[in-house]
Amino acid sequence: MSKKKFKVRRSYDETAKIYDRRYLSIQEKKYFDIINHFQNFNNKLILDVGAGTGLFSKFLKKQNQIISCDISFNMLKEGIKNNDLIFTVVCDSDSLPIRRNSVEIITCFSVIQNVPEPLYTINQFNIILKKGGLVILTALTKLFSLEELYQLIDNNYEIIDCWKLPIEDNALIFQKPKKREK
Ligand SMILES: C[S@@+](CC[C@H](N)C(=O)[O-])C[C@H]1O[C@@H](n2cnc3c(N)ncnc32)[C@H](O)[C@@H]1O
Repeated sequence: MSKKKFKVRRSYDETAKIYDRRYLSIQEKKYFDIINHFQNFNNKLILDVGAGTGLFSKFLKKQNQIISCDISFNMLKEGIKNNDLIFTVVCDSDSLPIRRNSVEIITCFSVIQNVPEPLYTINQFNIILKKGGLVILTALTKLFSLEELYQLIDNNYEIIDCWKLPIEDNALIFQKPKKREK
């Protein structure tokens, strides 16, 4: 594991117990706005990458259709204890132990600024997404302007929406094309 990932994991492992108290209201503002832009979460298998303590899963009240992945064991442990997470996987977003072409929606909120190579991570999502599958991603505005987020998306994907959230982050929705062009 790279030094950066090791440090990130250690830092979230150490602060897992206070994460919800510190960030619940901030993250919920983001989730409300995301739901206003995209309401079609029902009956879809969602992979929440960098799920942390599962605040989004709790917010959606759809724990049974969300797989929560995170590099920090302690963040997921808090999520199981406090936010009723059911399906959890401790793993790195750059090496997701998920079957190819199997996921309908990937959510990845406030994570991409922590990974060493965001472009690589986003390309890994492409492997496990079904055709027509969507990624809903947010990243800190101060590190990723809307233009910089756009630039992370190559022609493996189609951009559906890109906007500024009411607090901290910019958001992007993109899709793996339903059919590959020849
Ligand atoms: C700011 S928190 C966001 C948590 C959650 N998405 C939310 O909305 O509250 C970032 C999370 O990303 C996780 N993370 C960072 N790098 C990761 C990686 N390479 N693979 C998986 N998870 C990672 C951290 O452990 C942490 O739980």
